[in-house]
Amino acid sequence: MRIDVLVIGGGGREHALCWKLKQSPRIGKLYCAPGNGGTRAVAEQVPIGVMEFERLALFAEEKHVGLTIVGPDDPLAGGIVDHFKARGLRVWGPSKAAARIEASKAFAKELMREAGVPTAAFEVFTDHDKALAYVRAQGAPIVVKASGLALGKGVYVCQTLAEAEAALKEIMLDHLFKDAGNEVVVEEYLDGQEVSLHALSDGSSHLLFPPSQDHKPVGEGDTGPNTGGMGTIAPLPQVSEGMLQELDASVVTPTLEAMKKRGVPFAGLLYPGIKLSSKGPRVLEFNARFGDPETQVYMRLLKTDLLDLLDACVDGELGTQTIEWHPGFAANIVLASGGYPGAYEKGFPITGIEEAEQVEGAVVFHAGTALKDGALVTNGGRVLGVSAVGDTLAHALDRAYRAAELVHFEGKYYRRDIGVEALERR
Ligand code: AMP
Ligand code: GLY
Repeated sequence: MRIDVLVIGGGGREHALCWKLKQSPRIGKLYCAPGNGGTRAVAEQVPIGVMEFERLALFAEEKHVGLTIVGPDDPLAGGIVDHFKARGLRVWGPSKAAARIEASKAFAKELMREAGVPTAAFEVFTDHDKALAYVRAQGAPIVVKASGLALGKGVYVCQTLAEAEAALKEIMLDHLFKDAGNEVVVEEYLDGQEVSLHALSDGSSHLLFPPSQDHKPVGEGDTGPNTGGMGTIAPLPQVSEGMLQELDASVVTPTLEAMKKRGVPFAGLLYPGIKLSSKGPRVLEFNARFGDPETQVYMRLLKTDLLDLLDACVDGELGTQTIEWHPGFAANIVLASGGYPGAYEKGFPITGIEEAEQVEGAVVFHAGTALKDGALVTNGGRVLGVSAVGDTLAHALDRAYRAAELVHFEGKYYRRDIGVEALERR
């Protein structure tokens, strides 16, 4: 039976989810709230913000939406899933209580300690002077994190003590991230490659995706401030099937079990960010949602019907499902506005997307775009994700970069070294 679906969010992740859902033989009407300049090609645009729970629920009721899928962290942390469920609406995503695993780094750290999940050594502080004394005692390099949600920007990887002191000041004294910085996690610095895991869970069973890799710092060679993510590749060649199974057994399974034991089963997408450090794998954070831009590469590789998977997840029947992937690799290059993650201008016309999509294997996902007087313009920090698939990682990257060069807007900035470390380490 066909089912009408509402996707909540307006980034590259949501465009990729809509793009994949649209391919389902069971999809009826597909809505996206609020969507962006690109989602309208596959979904009907609904001009309601992601935090307007009541209006979104009313819309779902009125339109007889059979499944609502929540993309971003903020509505999940704010309890949108509980809100929809209380209204008897079918919704995919973790409850507010379960989303704390992302919304509170302090909660996540304590859960990991309890479940024996390997993570960087850490301390939690609410007092600036105590945090400062600890940081001075530990020395650099050291990592300072606002505990709450900060659009991926509340993490300071500090190479010097002065940087760490400045980070504590910005978070705890200048309140740059408002209440998200009331609690601070100070963490041991870990070297090594980063890997993103994605596990779809119905609270009891889970299915693991192939390993992927994001590139968080804005600059090439992992320099400059952290962003929401500048580019992704999947699968990550350095993580063998055996290693993936070990990470499942040491990270994903114990975390999901600990959540269940606490009475807050995690149903949705659990995304651990992991460092493959010289001391062994260590979890840096958990996210309670699909990664952005990880979703863009995953949706290019996923063979199984996404609607079937998410439906089974909501019904607690994930144990009956299997997940299949296309062979080969995918890459996604983020084209950002000049200045991001700092201040940037919006409203510049975008051209060349059609040409980019003529490159074999390429698909362009929109993130910060909008239509203004019928023309596509920039409307955010991360503007587009140019994705491509290929038989090898080098092939996928080559296609994605060729396509990325064909897109134009004033101030266009992108990292030219996405996937390079993974290629060189082979
Ligand atoms: P998080 O939001 O906690 O994943 O941190 C954002 C990014 O900061 C991560 O993706 C890493 O690149 C970096 N990072 C976080 N924690 C550490 C750490 N303990 N050591 C080194 N880099 C880190
Ligand atoms: N890929 C970074 C994030 O989704 O948080």
